[in-house]
Amino acid sequence: MTADRPLRLVVLISGRGSNLQALLEGTHNGSLPAQICGVISNRPEAAGLERARQAKVKALSVDHRAFGERTAFEAALTETIDHFEPQLVLLAGFMRILNPTFVEHYRGRMLNIHPSLLPKFRGLHTHQRALAEGETEHGASVHFVTPQLDGGPVALQARVPILPGDDPDSLAARVLAREQRIYPLAVRWFAQGRLALNGERVTFDGRPLTTPLDLDNMTEEES
Ligand code: GRF
Repeated sequence: MTADRPLRLVVLISGRGSNLQALLEGTHNGSLPAQICGVISNRPEAAGLERARQAKVKALSVDHRAFGERTAFEAALTETIDHFEPQLVLLAGFMRILNPTFVEHYRGRMLNIHPSLLPKFRGLHTHQRALAEGETEHGASVHFVTPQLDGGPVALQARVPILPGDDPDSLAARVLAREQRIYPLAVRWFAQGRLALNGERVTFDGRPLTTPLDLDNMTEEES
């Protein structure tokens, strides 16, 4: 993989697409050496599809409701993704649980953004759960996707404080701003060949990470 040829990306979404927007902006302003070849939603009504079209990116839907079995949906999804010949597939608010066969097909070349400091709060309603647990900080994680839901090796995290008076919405907004920062950054590193999955371990600049990278705790050389 070389930096002189933009990395081919496919982004999977289910809704609003604000992380997609951050990625689109990165490819347009030159900070992300990548090209979003296609955006695919499992929901035809997803607002993010319109963001893609506005950016002149091919936007398609593979509606999961049209398939009886999850495996049939995933086979159609794989075919649609692979038609774009992506080097990296990004889950950006893609709200479907994925079977191991699908996930293994993209091993080492599929990332997800999750709104919590993994391994804390896998799954849904992370903001509400962090507040209910009395956490003092929360955040977002970029991780490689493996068959375990939100359980793949974490590459990069960003933390936010939980403030007095926070509710799930205010906390989600604070976390989302960090998601939109770390997702394009992790993708840039992947495009530059700095970030990879090696077996079960994330490597950064060829070294296995023992803990995820932390956006606010990185040396200049790292970022
Ligand atoms: C984000 O919080 C993402 O982490 C989660 O779903 C949300 C999607 O937001 N998985 P958007 O569609 O990118 O605006």
